Amino acid sequence: MTRGVAPARPYTDAVPTGEAPVSAPEEEIFLNPFEPGFFDNPYAQYRRLREEAPIHQSPFGPWTLTRYDHVSALLRDPSLSVEDRNAPPTPRDQMIAGFDPERARRGDLAILNLDPPDHTRIRRLVQKAFTPRRVEELVPHVQELVDGMLDAAESAGRMDVIGDLAFPLPFAVISEMLGMPDADRDQLRDWSHTLVKTLEPILTVEEMPAMFEASDSMIEHVEGAIEWKRRQPADDLLSAMIAAEEEGDRLSTEELIAQVILLFIAGHETTVNLIGNSTLALLRNPDQLARLRAEPDLIGNAVEELLRYDSPVQFSRRITLVPLEIEGHRIEPGNFVFTVLGAANHDPAHFGPASRRGARTRRDTRGDRLARAAVPGDAARDGRARVERPPRPPRPRLTPGRPVLRALPCSYGLRSVAASWSR
Ligand code: HEM
Repeated sequence: MTRGVAPARPYTDAVPTGEAPVSAPEEEIFLNPFEPGFFDNPYAQYRRLREEAPIHQSPFGPWTLTRYDHVSALLRDPSLSVEDRNAPPTPRDQMIAGFDPERARRGDLAILNLDPPDHTRIRRLVQKAFTPRRVEELVPHVQELVDGMLDAAESAGRMDVIGDLAFPLPFAVISEMLGMPDADRDQLRDWSHTLVKTLEPILTVEEMPAMFEASDSMIEHVEGAIEWKRRQPADDLLSAMIAAEEEGDRLSTEELIAQVILLFIAGHETTVNLIGNSTLALLRNPDQLARLRAEPDLIGNAVEELLRYDSPVQFSRRITLVPLEIEGHRIEPGNFVFTVLGAANHDPAHFGPASRRGARTRRDTRGDRLARAAVPGDAARDGRARVERPPRPPRPRLTPGRPVLRALPCSYGLRSVAASWSR
């Protein structure tokens, strides 16, 4: 897919209702991020797909699943692969090969793109370093950072929810956790922002050179950081990953670089979206915000529900290695299958008809959302790792302005949400 993605622009209706009609009934319907209005409200298209074409092959190539049961089963099916080499080159691969054949042949060593046994081996080594204890230890510092950012915004009387909180918070946390030098943070942020687009199904030819440059610079930078940490190990995740060993096995430098870049990008881009989308959802559902303030113990449950309601990552993908039958559809080996998490997470057959109307901080969320993988550090994101501290006094009301979308179909979030305090 080489067509352009619409530039960021103001939201018109970002409430995930799935109510708006998206195309005339006789039109063929398929997952189409190019459809006008898709980024404003993808849930409308998702609803029609769930109802009319829950399993379909898009004219762009990949098969697409939108119902909860199908998505959930496919993501848990060990017969499928995540390694791109198991599918014929996509137009995107061909585009990269056209630019730089050597680069196209480089394997991807990040665990996100590896099958067992490589996935099992590398993940086990990373888990030795990325422990629940390391996450728990971060909590007081995270709380300090949040308090500082909110205090500054409150005294200014206004804030950009993304620029003043949702972005700097996870970025600072993952940078500090890995032990990346402070001086390099602006540079890392820019490369990471460029590189996150490599996780998207759509790339333009124009985006390629910047992508390659960011990738080369980030690899060089991380390699330098690894060399430095080898000489000066500290109490940080990168040093722990370098030292991680099991039965004489260690991560090679190439494997380390790939995991660090993955953790760096996955560790903040997704969380920026979660904080931004969730803050907006709560501001737009003041009854739920009031309830959460009154019952702060609901926070873990609320995070689960907000992950479902406006999912920070909207698609995942697998590749078939053997023929796959789903309700009469036969998918041959070597095909990409997109699982549309944002559609599955609004499937009324699983979540009930009310799931489309609003976020409910009290809904029983145990084990049903499909917004993310079970990865190291789960405790923090489940809201279990919370600091025990007296609640802050209620803040003045924050009124959101018109949010601006990032307009990426997979990593789904906001570029800015201007908001002002009213007393
Ligand atoms: C709102 C927060 C997050 C969301 C929505 C999210 C979402 C996802 C999704 C959808 C996947 C792919 C799942 C699959 O296809 O099976 C994934 C994988 C992954 N994520 Fe996250 N993620 C989040 C936070 C994080 C954080 C904070 C980190 C690290 C600091 C992280 C690291 C990873 C890693 C390493 C993988 C690959 C796991 C594997 O293949 O074993 N993620 N995430």
